[in-house]
Amino acid sequence: MKNLAILILSGLLLSANASAGILEDRNCGSCHRLNTEETSLTAPDLHYAGNKFQPEWLKQFLKKPEVIRPAGFINDPEFLQGSTENRPVHPSFPEEDLNCLVESLMSLKIPGSTPAPTEPLSKGQQAKIKYQFERTFGCISCHQSLNLAGKVRGGISGPSLVNAGNRLQADWIADWLSSPETYLAKGRMPRYKMDPATLGQFTRFIMTLKKENIK
Ligand code: HEC
Ligand code: HEC
Repeated sequence: MKNLAILILSGLLLSANASAGILEDRNCGSCHRLNTEETSLTAPDLHYAGNKFQPEWLKQFLKKPEVIRPAGFINDPEFLQGSTENRPVHPSFPEEDLNCLVESLMSLKIPGSTPAPTEPLSKGQQAKIKYQFERTFGCISCHQSLNLAGKVRGGISGPSLVNAGNRLQADWIADWLSSPETYLAKGRMPRYKMDPATLGQFTRFIMTLKKENIK
């Protein structure tokens, strides 16, 4: 019985490694954490990429990378050192690699998801959450976002949320807001105590932030 369990377990590990193959080949693991056994490196963790990202965004990003953390990544020695202009650009990858890379990233998952509500916010709720995002909770002091006029504004110490609606999965956002420790042992974002309804509305609000709405 025990042997069988070990066999099944090693089979599972093997298949997990096989799917991470192209990520290892392309050296993603030299900067990114790709599995739960490793610890965080100089770039954001990707061992839960399948929980966090939308596949279409990943494809665009790997083809033509954009800056998400204008101040740099906290674990990087260069953090807050340089402006966007003189930071090294992310490696980009040829068209023929993209589907395989995205598939491998989407297979990296960890358990734990707080399902997000799917119904869109009413106009009133949207205005209320926008106010809370900017004033009550001060999310804007660390995150770039879009103001009412469709202009980018906000602090740069956290990841930009300007394109979050194309980039992130709603369930992941809800999970991040309710239990960030699932994804990051020690983060720098303050912990908010939100009731489930507010948390769901924040998630829907963040999903409305899209770069095509920049004016
Ligand atoms: C030289 C180090 C380095 C290598 C190699 C590298 N990355 Fe990155 N990657 C970074 C850094 C730094 C960021 C953060 C960029 C930002 O926030 O603006 C990043 C961001 C990302 C993101 C967005 C993560 C997030 O949470 O915002 C994805 C997805 C990603 N990389 C995938 C890959 C894949 C797939 C590979 C290999 C094919 C790869 N990277 C290779 C350094 C690297
Ligand atoms: C003091 C700065 C600060 C404030 C205020 C703040 N955050 Fe964050 N947030 C961060 C940082 C830094 C991260 C990246 C993870 C980390 O290092 O802890 C983050 C990560 C996130 C992410 C995940 C983004 C990604 O791409 O990984 C979301 C979504 C988010 N914050 C939403 C919010 C919301 C909603 C609020 C207000 C209710 C808020 N944040 C307030 C600093 C902040």
